[in-house]
Amino acid sequence: MANFDVIVIGGGPAGYVCAIRAAQLGLTTAVVEREKLGGVCVNIGCIPTKALLHSAYILNTVKHGAKELGVETGEVKGDYGVAMRRSRKVSEQNSRGVESLMKKHKITVLKGEGTLLAGKKVKVGAETHSAGKAVVIATGSRTKGIPQIGLEIDKATVISSDEALFLEQTPKSIAIVGAGAVGCEFADIFNAFGSQVTLIEALPRILPLEDAEASDALAKSYRKRGIAMHAGAKVVKATVSKDKATLELEVGGKPVSVEAEKVLMAAGRAVNTERLGLAEAGVQLTERGFVQVNPATLETTAAGIYCIGDVAGPPMLAHKGSREGVHVAELVAGHHPRPIDYHNVPSVTYCHPEVASVGLTEQDAKAKGIEIKVGRFPFSANGRARTAGETEGFVKIVRDAKYGEIVGAHIVGSHASELIHELIVAKTNEYTVEEVDLAIHAHPTLSEAIAEAALDSLGRVIHI
Ligand code: NAI
Repeated sequence: MANFDVIVIGGGPAGYVCAIRAAQLGLTTAVVEREKLGGVCVNIGCIPTKALLHSAYILNTVKHGAKELGVETGEVKGDYGVAMRRSRKVSEQNSRGVESLMKKHKITVLKGEGTLLAGKKVKVGAETHSAGKAVVIATGSRTKGIPQIGLEIDKATVISSDEALFLEQTPKSIAIVGAGAVGCEFADIFNAFGSQVTLIEALPRILPLEDAEASDALAKSYRKRGIAMHAGAKVVKATVSKDKATLELEVGGKPVSVEAEKVLMAAGRAVNTERLGLAEAGVQLTERGFVQVNPATLETTAAGIYCIGDVAGPPMLAHKGSREGVHVAELVAGHHPRPIDYHNVPSVTYCHPEVASVGLTEQDAKAKGIEIKVGRFPFSANGRARTAGETEGFVKIVRDAKYGEIVGAHIVGSHASELIHELIVAKTNEYTVEEVDLAIHAHPTLSEAIAEAALDSLGRVIHI
């Protein structure tokens, strides 16, 4: 006799959301978690970094903008330790929130490491539990170094985001390897708190997966704030000692040397597939090391075993994992959920200015041979942005030339992470740019820039 309908291994945003949806649908559910509920996102990822980014933002605003706003301050100093401890409190609060959600939905939390056994069974410690309907793997990912070039995470000189989130003070200087979301967010934080930051990216620009104009706008803003950047840079060699590291780079064929007190590794994450008993249970991996799933059902190569979140493949984003969790719970309960449209998964980097996007970049749309028109509107021409003194950035909409459907949307600027959702709703529901403009946008708001970009793509922008 199975003791649960569904057993989810991993209590991060993919796993715990899957468990809640399963419980809502009347399935008896257990979540296995070896550390804290909420996973990387809540404990050592999204949530604490956003708390630190908020501190960084306030610090920069008070330091550089307060006087102009009529706010007199004395000497302004950052204290990373205080900001760090606040971020820990926020994380702990969120993790307790997940615990209480488990109680509310009568979900059993099994503390310990789960291992798959044949026949939809999961071993946790000395006990074996069986699932009548499904086992869901949601074990997530972890930080990683690049030992091949001498950049092993030693948690002292060479650190990852795991250690950066617990520092009592910021280093005098830090080299950040990788300018994806992690690298760019920590560059913002450390720069605000006074570190000399050097951002190193192998691909030709920072945030290389974003639209080129978005990357350029962020690079321009970072340069103004004194963040050094090397894009198209290959780390050839690293020499690490107790109190500093020297990185030898090759940038455009030329050697460049970067010395820093610490190195932060932000060049991607490794998935947690070890010690799970995958092979024994018949679960295969892809060539890249993710769990192989049927893209429509997220079922693995073993019947009744599903996989969601980071470990199921990119994009490694909390909201993608959560959506997969809901999807699998509904399938297992016998429902027919709509397929997940991976083209509509938004991407947000919460640095300042924020960078948010959905769909294709202009470059990708062109490469795919799609006939497009592009509309843009800068926040420097938006009344509300001016009132806040935050005029960096723009809204850019890439639309299909013939029908006006949104192919991609890109926002750089204050509150981009919130603003993008108007365009996500529009794109997900296949609205045209005319339909975006049809909605009357309140004045004065940052959202007006979205309507204006839609109009610009139609050749009838009003305010520029
Ligand atoms: P990432 O894959 O997004 O970015 C890593 C960057 O490092 C890439 O641009 C890559 O070209 C570069 N890189 C790789 N090897 C390199 C080398 N040897 N030298 C220089 N550059 C190198 O990974 P990241 O930023 O570590 O984030 C991990 C995951 O977590 C990603 O999937 C990311 O999207 C997600 N995440 C999302 C956040 C958000 O949504 N705001 C925040 C933080 C992480």
